[in-house]
Amino acid sequence: MSKYSNIWNPNLWPPFTQIATTTPPTKVIAGDGALLIRDGDQPIIDAISSWWVTLHGHSHPYISNAIATQAERLEQVIFADFVHPQAENLARRLSEITKLQRLFFSDNGSTAVEVALKIACQWWQNRQEPRQQLIAFQGAYHGDTFGAMALGERNLFNAPFENMLFPVSRLPWPATWWEDDEVEQKEARVITQLEKLLETPTVAVILEPLVQGAGGMSMVRPEFLAKVEERIKQAGALLIADEVLTGFGRCGSFFAFQQAGIQPDLLALSKGLTGGFLPMGVTMASEKIFTAFIGEEPKLTLWHGHSFTGNPLGCAAANASLDLLQNNPEKYEQFELRHLPFLKNLSKHPLVKKIRVRGTIAAFDIQAKGPTGYLNTAGQKLKKAAIKRGVFLRPLGNVVYLLPPLCINDSQLEQCYVAIENGLNEL
Ligand SMILES: Cc1ncc(COP(=O)(O)O)c(C=O)c1O
Repeated sequence: MSKYSNIWNPNLWPPFTQIATTTPPTKVIAGDGALLIRDGDQPIIDAISSWWVTLHGHSHPYISNAIATQAERLEQVIFADFVHPQAENLARRLSEITKLQRLFFSDNGSTAVEVALKIACQWWQNRQEPRQQLIAFQGAYHGDTFGAMALGERNLFNAPFENMLFPVSRLPWPATWWEDDEVEQKEARVITQLEKLLETPTVAVILEPLVQGAGGMSMVRPEFLAKVEERIKQAGALLIADEVLTGFGRCGSFFAFQQAGIQPDLLALSKGLTGGFLPMGVTMASEKIFTAFIGEEPKLTLWHGHSFTGNPLGCAAANASLDLLQNNPEKYEQFELRHLPFLKNLSKHPLVKKIRVRGTIAAFDIQAKGPTGYLNTAGQKLKKAAIKRGVFLRPLGNVVYLLPPLCINDSQLEQCYVAIENGLNEL
């Protein structure tokens, strides 16, 4: 047994955690709105919505009631040969909002992307026009299953599997921030590269609309996405939008793609889908795509599915979450305005660079020494300082961001910014 084995917990293997360098985890016994209630300690503000999933707040009574009611009626049913009202309702509602008529269920963000990828590849085969090239962006993160890993940026996280990942053509992501004078030139260069790549027949281009999350809360302008879409449509390739993070109001519109006025062919959703209550993924597809999978020949079928496909509890949570979003759109539409005064103030700090904000997501880079990217330690120091002040952050290297649940109140949001500013002063 390693000397480190018991630091975390003798029986658990935590995600994204190096046991040798981690500190013991904090025990949480309850959640209440934006707060996590710690065992024997003060409540702490969940300023990153527990890995970006908690949309309306922890233990929101409307969603927990919907799940409890559904659990007493039907907790699970095989989703081939059977269907149930919650799934039908959810599919109807999401297809109305997304203008993508077909909903395919899976279990999380990675599987939602895998399904989109498989549908895209098989769509061309079913039409007897097999194509090879897939295009993704530098800095992308689409999940941790093999297909999703291959689409994502190659880095420390997937290096052990490098030789098992299929090739992907990659484009720079023209990230922008406040007072960025070069954004138009950056975008123009990428569009030229995209045009060149699209000369090769392409299965699909996949992107995270408006904000690359794990890639460092890296934001692009809606205008850029509109140009990308135009080129993709001209080339006849498919557009896959991965809105696992950006969907459900996170970026200030119901879906981020709507802000750019684009229409993807395939859309991957998860995280906020169930309000962050239950793991579920969905892939939305246009009717044009669905139609190519219909026919007498078995090989036309999408041979993919999961045991918990269309789980009624997940669907009930998702329908309840949609009610909350649709009844109070101002909560996400106006969230950005709440960030602005704090960000303006923060912009005066000498260590704060590249401020950016989109809807509920606010981010900046710490001007830090040492390696850039995920392994930079400045963020870790800031994280510790913020926790001492009752705020949970999880910076991505030297990128600090706030991605709070919609229910966070004004004084809690202020507490987050004060914790950041004080933490920066200690660096
Ligand atoms: C854009 C995006 N796609 C896919 C995923 C993978 O989702 P999951 O962790 O639910 O598998 C994530 C997770 O952070 C993500 O941000």
